[in-house]
Amino acid sequence: MLTQRIRYAPLLDKVVTADEAATHIRDGMTVATSGFTPFGYPKRVPQALADRVRRTGEPMKLTLLTGASVGDQLDGALARAGIVDRRFPYQTNDDTRKSINQGAIKYQDLHLSHVAQEVRYGFFGDIDVAIIEAVAITEDGGIVPSTSVGNSPTFVQKAKKIIVELNLNQPSGLEGMHDVYIPADPPARQPIPLVHPSDRIGTPFIPTDPEKIQAVVITDIPDAPPADAPGDAVADTMAGHLVEFLRHEVKVGRLPSNLLPLQSGVGALANAVLRGLLDAGFDDLTMYSEVVQDSVLDLIDAGILKVASASSITFSGRVLTRFLSQLDKYRDKIILRPQEISNNPEIIRRLGVIAMNTAIEVDIYGNVNSTHVLGTNVMNGIGGSGDFARNAYLTIFTTRSIAKDGNITSIVPMVSHVDHTEHDVKVIVTEQGVADLRGLCPRERARRIISCCAHPDYRDMLSDYLERAEKAGGKHTPHILDEALGWHCAFLKWKTMKPMALQPSRKTG
Ligand code: COA
Repeated sequence: MLTQRIRYAPLLDKVVTADEAATHIRDGMTVATSGFTPFGYPKRVPQALADRVRRTGEPMKLTLLTGASVGDQLDGALARAGIVDRRFPYQTNDDTRKSINQGAIKYQDLHLSHVAQEVRYGFFGDIDVAIIEAVAITEDGGIVPSTSVGNSPTFVQKAKKIIVELNLNQPSGLEGMHDVYIPADPPARQPIPLVHPSDRIGTPFIPTDPEKIQAVVITDIPDAPPADAPGDAVADTMAGHLVEFLRHEVKVGRLPSNLLPLQSGVGALANAVLRGLLDAGFDDLTMYSEVVQDSVLDLIDAGILKVASASSITFSGRVLTRFLSQLDKYRDKIILRPQEISNNPEIIRRLGVIAMNTAIEVDIYGNVNSTHVLGTNVMNGIGGSGDFARNAYLTIFTTRSIAKDGNITSIVPMVSHVDHTEHDVKVIVTEQGVADLRGLCPRERARRIISCCAHPDYRDMLSDYLERAEKAGGKHTPHILDEALGWHCAFLKWKTMKPMALQPSRKTG
């Protein structure tokens, strides 16, 4: 019954087709949408807009803001129609990525916790239209989000006009899983009153001025879950190293027996590594993260993980069905928050989060590149990895020691792009082992990373570089700059690989 989903009666008169709703969007506007990973994003209005532009040939260039990555019906549809001029703050879409790397879309990947406040301060100009996917509209006109929260509360607050995509495919049982809290901006900000991942500090809906809702579009299009990300032997080995490391930290008294709240990044590797906690003997775990992937539901079902706080679910199709069909079981165990709260530095520090994210490459001093292949082509973006890496109690990066069938070492003298500096990175894990960098000077870090994490095929090359760099000059962070900077090119030539083979091609997150 539509009246159970749209409980604010005046909005029943605002139900229109996607084509009609899309007429609110015009050239030069800034459009901000719900969505965080391919979950909870609007699916019908963006498609209607792309179809209109293709049909009419009308000029259309938009700034598009979202929570993070979104599904193809939004990012891909608009990129393929050539509509996106500027894109913030994160993406994982093949067509969007291609347009960015060809220079056709202006993209800046941002720390995800920063975005809402920057929108409120007007860094991106006015928000002309917000398109928000909802499972319901409350009696007072509040919007109940669907499978993610992202930046929607702030977009709703700041937008001149709001379009709601009411998705009947999303079970109304999702209501009650969200906790919406918008902090006041400085100088009026108060401490955020969240001291445990299970705390609820806001409302289960997005407070909304219903007068701003111009259109309600009824949809039934499901989210587009990513494919199953099965583990592999390398990921299992890395998970084993990580578990051993965590056990050791408990043994020496630096972590309690139920650890500290866990954060786990996006991608296949992060999911596989987290799955390693299933048989690790830990109990009573909690999670304070930005996404919950498949392995989180496995940990909850096994009774090992008590509660997971995030901004979005990111389940494969198989696990999504399991989740959506048993919402009552998970409603008090998974809490979805705005990303400025799920990724909030104040809370991450207070909770003492253990942050586990994935790197594309790591250098011998511990600087991490998680966004750019060969320094210029963006893969996805920094996402929330910086929010967590910079503020966690324990910042761990995982990466396979080699990529592209062993033609590339992921441990290099100098990363081709820096996302996380040596000051943030405490521990590196590859399938070769664990490098605990705490308390070490740069030269000691380099030796430890090479001996514990580099692939044996590349260890001698890296040690040789370090020894020559030490002889060549500076003794604190030894480098031979022209060689370090040329390393990526050098081994491109050395392995006679074609640069095109190294373009990013796959989506994660
Ligand atoms: N050089 C060149 N390519 C490399 C590489 C390297 N050193 N290391 C990995 N790659 C390539 C892989 O070959 C693979 O390519 P393919 O798509 O053509 O198969 C691709 O990068 C992804 O590698 P994979 O090991 O499968 O990674 P993943 O799915 O675990 O994702 C990141 C890894 C880094 C791309 C992903 O975690 C990411 O986007 N991180 C940034 C955002 C983030 O951390 N968010 C979490 C915040 S909570």
